[in-house]
Amino acid sequence: MSGRVQGRVALVTGGGRGQGAAEAALLAREGASVLIGDVLLEDGKAHAEALRAEGLDVRFQALDVTDPEHWETAVRTCREWKGRLDVLVNNAGIINRTTVASTALDAWKRVLDVNLTGAFLGTQAAVPLMREGGGGSIVNISSNSGFSGHYDPAYTASKWGLRGLTRSAAMEFARHNIRVNAICPGLVVTGLNKDSPHLKPMIEMTPMRRSGAPEEIAELVLFLASDASGFITGEDIVIDGGFTAGAAYRRVAEETGIF
Ligand SMILES: NC(=O)c1ccc[n+]([C@@H]2O[C@H](COP(=O)([O-])OP(=O)(O)OC[C@H]3O[C@@H](n4cnc5c(N)ncnc54)[C@H](O)[C@@H]3O)[C@@H](O)[C@H]2O)c1
Repeated sequence: MSGRVQGRVALVTGGGRGQGAAEAALLAREGASVLIGDVLLEDGKAHAEALRAEGLDVRFQALDVTDPEHWETAVRTCREWKGRLDVLVNNAGIINRTTVASTALDAWKRVLDVNLTGAFLGTQAAVPLMREGGGGSIVNISSNSGFSGHYDPAYTASKWGLRGLTRSAAMEFARHNIRVNAICPGLVVTGLNKDSPHLKPMIEMTPMRRSGAPEEIAELVLFLASDASGFITGEDIVIDGGFTAGAAYRRVAEETGIF
């Protein structure tokens, strides 16, 4: 059976759990060889093993996206394993639960390092091997907080920054047939936020009145990774059940009886 990314090689950061795990699984089920990179060694290894048990071509690599040497190793692994790299999903991310007034400098820097600098380093590391193979697709997982002001300023800045990095990289690498796009999810319940008090109000605010599923985000990653999106680059696509489209006005319209 031929899948939508048959024969491609994909590297998914933060692929050990949550959305990254769903993205790695879908890419592999659609025919890609997938290298899962994560700092969560046990989760990452277990996920790769479970996918291999399905007959899929998946490996795990310890990868801290903030470390350029780890990136060098991960890309070398792709080269030695399959001789190519076609898809990079910069999915790894962390969040603080603090505000401008309460965020310590170290915590600010850590979020920027993982969420933004990690994707920058990954792009730098991946592009040469992608170019050798004739092109590729880079998918950066931003957030709908990349369009507004989440209470965590570091998270917000990193996700706005990822949209900017996406556009810069898309312009620079279009001539090498490398597309670069961002996905901006709304609420998806994962290890990142499962204990957060904001889940219930967020779901109530979301026009579709539910959170997204990791598998729904993975479908968009697959689309951007595949030739189906061959003329799309430099875009950021929101996938948030209508939240960014106008959740505040939806609530106003409901509360005033317009809807
Ligand atoms: N969950 C949401 O509501 C939501 C909404 C919008 C965007 N996002 C973004 O989606 C992405 C995936 O998040 P998730 O919801 O699956 O959360 P998650 O916490 O389940 O997964 C994040 C993954 O990133 C990994 N990671 C963290 N630091 C790393 C590092 N230095 N190097 C390598 N891997 C690292 C974690 O180990 C984990 O496997 C993140 O970028 C997040 O900001 C999440």
